[in-house]
Amino acid sequence: MVQSSPISKLLPGTQLYKYNLKHRVGGGSFGEVWFAEDQAVGQNYAIKILEPGTPIHHRLREAHIGHVLEHSNVVRVHQADVTRLGNNDYVIIAMDYMPTGPVTKLANPSLFLTLPEVIRIGKDILRGLEYLHGHDFFHNDVKPENILIGPHGQGMLTDYGIVGITQDGAPVPPQTFYKIHAAPEVLNANAITAQTDVFQTGLTLFRMLVGLDTLRQKFTALGEKAYYNAVVQANLISASDFPAYVPNRLRRAILKAVHPDLAMRFSSALEMRRELEKLSYPGYWTIEPNGDFVGYNGSYWYRYNQKRKASKRYDVTAVKKNQTSGRVTRCTSYCHSNVTNAVAKKSIEKFVKAVVEGI
Ligand SMILES: Nc1ncnc2c1ncn2[C@@H]1O[C@H](COP(=O)(O)OP(=O)(O)O)[C@@H](O)[C@H]1O
Ligand SMILES: [Mg+2]
Repeated sequence: MVQSSPISKLLPGTQLYKYNLKHRVGGGSFGEVWFAEDQAVGQNYAIKILEPGTPIHHRLREAHIGHVLEHSNVVRVHQADVTRLGNNDYVIIAMDYMPTGPVTKLANPSLFLTLPEVIRIGKDILRGLEYLHGHDFFHNDVKPENILIGPHGQGMLTDYGIVGITQDGAPVPPQTFYKIHAAPEVLNANAITAQTDVFQTGLTLFRMLVGLDTLRQKFTALGEKAYYNAVVQANLISASDFPAYVPNRLRRAILKAVHPDLAMRFSSALEMRRELEKLSYPGYWTIEPNGDFVGYNGSYWYRYNQKRKASKRYDVTAVKKNQTSGRVTRCTSYCHSNVTNAVAKKSIEKFVKAVVEGI
């Protein structure tokens, strides 16, 4: 944001038009999002204050779209106003406030979410996309930062800043696009469809499972050109990029969602959701606040340890703890002494998978 912008100087307690600003919840190049009270009706909203610079009707487009949407997986826009601040006109868009914020808040210290959370949020946003596509909109900006956590813990799509408006699902050119989630059809043909949202959902799920920063890091490491080449050649992510705690069927679903060949990709959000509906696992792994990698399944938690001995041999210990009784026992089929690194790694991988899929 431009430093001299009056928006960047707003403080809690400021009165902006009919809104009393309470606290800032987000910001970017567009302006800022604040939690604010609409004093005319005594209601709290999240208000998005859009910077000047583009014509007012362009900035109101996002509000026009958000205002017609009513679905439990899509954030509702209630109203929009134009107000003067300094010498400029600002657009203020009022929407439902989601106090928990975006799903990125659910990430652990290694910046990934648990398997059940990712599958659930995936189904939620696909439901939201089904609704948007049914109303002739392509979201075109599906990413973890644009998924808020709703009142029932559900994933809710927000940010209609670059939504594409279609007629009967026909491809349209994107206004602009988020480089990290650029789909092959955008790079090759400058066109978005419902399947572009499926692609972005695939990358969103990948990031939530593996690490929110993984693709950004890849983009930085490869540079834009090589990154885009990887996208169009189906090399961006592969089955081996997923850690052992991501089951194979979910890996396949995500790879199908990001396939560059539209005939090989899920044909719709509904088709992808139906695949996710089939996935259910009793366990998951996460990183605890203290940095430990811990598996959970039923009333047990699981851990392992690989210890190096002399001469490149290793001992592997795998244990489980009954969370109710506190009793710790060894998982003997996954414990080894004096094995090679390769054997140790393979056994740990089996252990991690077994905790997820049923041990
Ligand atoms: N309705 C809301 N409730 C709570 N937080 C919100 C809401 N809308 C936006 N935010 C926060 O503000 C950030 C920016 O909002 P967004 O609409 O995505 O703007 P941008 O166009 O800059 O991406 C979001 O990532 C989220 O953290
Ligand atoms: Mg956003």
